[in-house]
Amino acid sequence: MKYGYFDDENREYVITNPKTPWPWINYLGNKDFFSLISNTAGGYSFYKDAKFRRLTRYRYNGVPMDAGGRYFYIKDGDTVWNPGWKPTKTPLDRYECRHGMNYTRIIGEKDGVEANLLFFVPLDTHAEVTRLTLTNKSDKPKHLKLFSFIEWCLWNAATDMENFQRNFSTGEVEIEGSAIYHKTEYKERRNHYAFFNVNVPVQGFDTDRETFMGLYNGFDEPDAVMEGKPRNSVAHGWSPIASHYIEVDLQPGESKDFIFTLGYVENPDNKKWESKGVINKQPAREIMERFDTPEKVDKAFADLRKYWDDLLAKYTVKSGDDKLDRMVNIWNQYQCMITFCFSRSASFFESGIGRGMGFRDSNQDLVGFVHQIPERARERIIDIASTQFPDGGCYHQYQPLTKRGNNDIGGGFNDDPMWLIFGTAAYIKETGDFSILDEMVPFDNQPGSEVPLMEHLKVSVDHVINNLGPHGLPLIGRADWNDCLNLNCFSHDPNESFQTTENKSEGSKAESLMIAGQFVATGRDYVDLCRTLGKNEEADRVQKYIDEMTEAVKKYGWDGDWYLRAYDYYGRKVGSNDNKEGKIFIESQGWCTMAGIGLEDGLVEKSLDSVKKYLDCEHGLVLNNPAFTEYIPDYGEISTYPAGYKENAGIFSHNNPWVIIGETVLGRGERAWEYYQKICPAYVEEKSDLHKVEPYVYCQMTAGKDAARPGEAKNSWLTGTAAWNWYAITQFILGIRPAYNGLEIDPCIPKDWDGYHVSRKFRGATYDISVRNPHHVSKGVKSIILNGNPIEGNVLPIMPEGSINKVEVTL
Ligand code: GLC
Ligand code: GLC
Repeated sequence: MKYGYFDDENREYVITNPKTPWPWINYLGNKDFFSLISNTAGGYSFYKDAKFRRLTRYRYNGVPMDAGGRYFYIKDGDTVWNPGWKPTKTPLDRYECRHGMNYTRIIGEKDGVEANLLFFVPLDTHAEVTRLTLTNKSDKPKHLKLFSFIEWCLWNAATDMENFQRNFSTGEVEIEGSAIYHKTEYKERRNHYAFFNVNVPVQGFDTDRETFMGLYNGFDEPDAVMEGKPRNSVAHGWSPIASHYIEVDLQPGESKDFIFTLGYVENPDNKKWESKGVINKQPAREIMERFDTPEKVDKAFADLRKYWDDLLAKYTVKSGDDKLDRMVNIWNQYQCMITFCFSRSASFFESGIGRGMGFRDSNQDLVGFVHQIPERARERIIDIASTQFPDGGCYHQYQPLTKRGNNDIGGGFNDDPMWLIFGTAAYIKETGDFSILDEMVPFDNQPGSEVPLMEHLKVSVDHVINNLGPHGLPLIGRADWNDCLNLNCFSHDPNESFQTTENKSEGSKAESLMIAGQFVATGRDYVDLCRTLGKNEEADRVQKYIDEMTEAVKKYGWDGDWYLRAYDYYGRKVGSNDNKEGKIFIESQGWCTMAGIGLEDGLVEKSLDSVKKYLDCEHGLVLNNPAFTEYIPDYGEISTYPAGYKENAGIFSHNNPWVIIGETVLGRGERAWEYYQKICPAYVEEKSDLHKVEPYVYCQMTAGKDAARPGEAKNSWLTGTAAWNWYAITQFILGIRPAYNGLEIDPCIPKDWDGYHVSRKFRGATYDISVRNPHHVSKGVKSIILNGNPIEGNVLPIMPEGSINKVEVTL
């Protein structure tokens, strides 16, 4: 069943039934101030870092699911309702939630009153703005009682959830007019506070949760709301909240607007106080003033819309297939921006407490957003590289607030270094900005250790070269891309983390074919880069290692019908027909076929045919087969998951595009397209009851064929799947690919396609590209005409900034 529909014109997904199979969320803000918002207005806000600067509280995995958010209660006579249906769940006469590009609109209607809520974070603003429009659609005057509600988090989202002996005594607020200020710990080491304001006078308020709710009530029946009487409570400790009480009279046909701002302020030390114990509210007042009329809010909202118009104008396709067009033109690009902002930190599956920015994740995400926001991609690359160690090794994660490597997780994931090259190459190909390579970047953020970024790329390559195992293949370390294939862990203690424990590694023979393929594929980018820069000696040096790696894979990494996955600690094969379970894995098939290792000997074709045979199912490609049914200490976490879930034979969407790209190396357009559609959200919208998560974004994992409920998806939004599918569809299927020296055209499509049109902004010029397929082939560019003139080869030259160029491609 479907729960809504795509409104492509407005770039919105419109949810028409609040009872979605799982909260379907959206993200507000794309710089510094962020909010998560579900289709029933649940969720939370934070400044920069979901762990250390949490503004509002959220309860994960609560009962019912998704409790807590920004709630508006409307009391109309004896009926209390919420425009987003929750938390009162009073049946509505009409409900609609429109998730758009960094904004959400929720419209609820009950007994002739319409409440239209627009939520967004204006550009460059440290606040979430909510515009509520109440309209009396009945023919009688309405006297309504309106209560707003949010609950403050005591800043650190982790200790907020556990240290109650302290927390229940520290909470402090100030109230001034219609603004409620949260200032817990401001007196001591914090220089920041938050506020929740409304632009009209209020007739009452509450800031103490239990006084407002009543100790034995849930969000669905706060005492104050049910009685229609605010308590004007002032919180001292316990759990501070912010609730405004407003009496609203509406004549038939009349509308009134209310603008709420939930904001964050940092004050310099010498300007912390207005007077003793009274916080300096000036910066907060400035934010409130910027949005205190509907006109100002309209303007800010129009600016946000315009911002997205510009971002999304950089790549647009017209293919004749609505689903493809909406994914490429809207939702996939949008999701890539979201993974840029959040890496894997904050979603309805990631608590915002556990993980910072992943080294590998953030580098991969780059290919998804570099065309949108190249200057921020540049900054991101420098931030990431600054956490690298001098030997090329990397912290696996860093915190966005401090930009420092995270010691708790440490390093030793041996695929990490090569991803820096992957991300940097993508950036340079898009922008032509080679100057980034001269940027001075420290190691492990140590002042004085700075070297040019190019040197970081070199130590990345060398990290692989210096860590080869007995077969000349890369040693895996803690793990490679697959965090759960822990070949040196050997854990028997359930209190140990598989990612941070290494019970053996000295003398380990554990090697990875994923890293081998990655080294060949991404190493090539490095070699090309060196050649482009005239560093031929370095190019030759590394090319030699790539050639050796290619030979090592053919010799020791081929199992007969597919590439092996790894060698374990003892040097035994992993992912081989000789194994009882886990005979074949997707990662090495993906990477070695993308790298084209053994293409001429038929290895790529055999490998991909085996993928089809053993890993494919209705819902996508599973990670390995057969699934593990027993715990194998030699393999680690992968064998802990029940069969068919997560890394144990789940459909780990992230790696499906590797195979898609592998298929394009072979030129099999039908296969590539078939795999693309299987996991592409717009194509599975009809199956929402089974799929559960949002039909407008990719998820990390769908239960595989060995699972109890194949097709059931989890972990939507924050996944490398977004960037990789963007990369696969735009650069390898539609085949418009940035290169160091121009825009390469190399489509690989199903034979029955007649063609399509892509408009691509690249290095300041616009290319209007029409691809025609009169001979119904999958691959192979026959001719290209640029502005009326045929060109040699298939790389469009870099055209003058501002120029609009007509490109006709015939396959
Ligand atoms: C998660 C991690 C990613 C890892 C993948 C496979 O998605 O964020 O870094 O590669 O799992 O284990
Ligand atoms: C777990 C997950 C994996 C993720 C890792 C991150 O192992 O299964 O997907 O990458 O945690 O720490």
